Amino acid sequence: MSGTSADGVDCAIVDIVRAQSRLTIKLLASQTVAYPPGLRQRVLSAPTQGTVAELCHLNAAVGEVFARAALRTIHRARLEPKDIGLIGSHGQTVYHQPVPRREPKVGAVRSTLQIGAPAIIAERTGITTVADFRARDMAAGGEGAPLTPYAHHLLFQSKRRSRLIVNLGGIANVTFLPAGGGLDDVRAFDTGPCNMLLDGLMVKGTGGTQRIDRNGRLAGRGRSHASLLKILLSHPYLAKRPPKSTGREEFGDPYVVGVLRQARTKRLSLEHLLATSCDFVAATIVEACAWLNGDVDEVILGGGGVKNRALMNALRQAFEPRPVRTMDQVGVDSNAFEALAFAVMAYQTLHGAPTNVPAVTGARHAVVLGTVVPGKKNIPSYRLR
Ligand SMILES: Nc1ncnc2c1ncn2[C@@H]1O[C@H](COP(=O)(O)OP(=O)(O)O)[C@@H](O)[C@H]1O
Ligand SMILES: [Mg+2]
Repeated sequence: MSGTSADGVDCAIVDIVRAQSRLTIKLLASQTVAYPPGLRQRVLSAPTQGTVAELCHLNAAVGEVFARAALRTIHRARLEPKDIGLIGSHGQTVYHQPVPRREPKVGAVRSTLQIGAPAIIAERTGITTVADFRARDMAAGGEGAPLTPYAHHLLFQSKRRSRLIVNLGGIANVTFLPAGGGLDDVRAFDTGPCNMLLDGLMVKGTGGTQRIDRNGRLAGRGRSHASLLKILLSHPYLAKRPPKSTGREEFGDPYVVGVLRQARTKRLSLEHLLATSCDFVAATIVEACAWLNGDVDEVILGGGGVKNRALMNALRQAFEPRPVRTMDQVGVDSNAFEALAFAVMAYQTLHGAPTNVPAVTGARHAVVLGTVVPGKKNIPSYRLR
């Protein structure tokens, strides 16, 4: 999978065994394969500046990159494509419109577009590939996101403690797992911008020489600015009631430019601006807890943002006195988690099991997600265990 940061293709090889209706999930290998130079930028600018010809081309090019990333991961794990039962590919989101748009004579339409043609992945690898997970949930009236709560429930549900799982990706999203709850009790939504803002400020604030605030070093040297923080917290998305999901359409470049402009009128240096943004992200996540159906006992963090120490400190402070740990600290590789989640969803799709959580996406009912492209072995002969 590749998230909204478009920083690279996260690959995970997962062993999944089903006994009765319980799944046992084991991560065998994982890696992130970077996009070739230039491709990331084109993927990011395609939605606003690209032509249909460019998007058509990128869909295939990203498919090739995903196929290669899968093959490299398989070989590095000393396996062969024939050892792999199926691939789940989230693809690369280029556009996501969860709020229905009215189309004359058609009605309300929600849409989402993930590129990285699964036909190319299936053809290059010979492995049956499940993709386009979000579309079916949307067709059933859902937001098409977030989808990882299904896997959060499988891996992190506790009988005695209510847990909040926080993914610090381009966008931050939370999943609440109330103590002893079932899948229907799970609540989850996108809280707002995270690395999309921090990365955007770095790129624009350094004239493009630095893409990320590595380990949060710059932010760690700055101090939060109270009045800018207040302005940032007044964004209308934050006050919206879930179900809700968001992306680059709302918090992309124009938003980042607006934040930079505000900081300039206050003569704020980049480090103070980054420190303020880390506090902002932490505050949006803590304030989002007001929408949950219970109190949080402990917090578990995943996504690339766990490597940003300033952001981690801001979150620890904001959640005090509740314990805050990373997925790695509870035995799950935080870099691999999202890719693992789509492997599990793909497995369930081939077993005819739904993996959306209607209480989370707002879909009218549970649906089996994805589009299946058969590999060399045709689907009926796919060995179900
Ligand atoms: N060493 C690091 N220091 C600071 N931030 C990091 C580091 N490594 C990754 N990140 C952040 O994590 C982001 C990628 O996170 P990821 O969870 O892959 O997001 P997405 O799901 O949107 O692709 C990077 O764009 C960057 O902002
Ligand atoms: Mg990523």
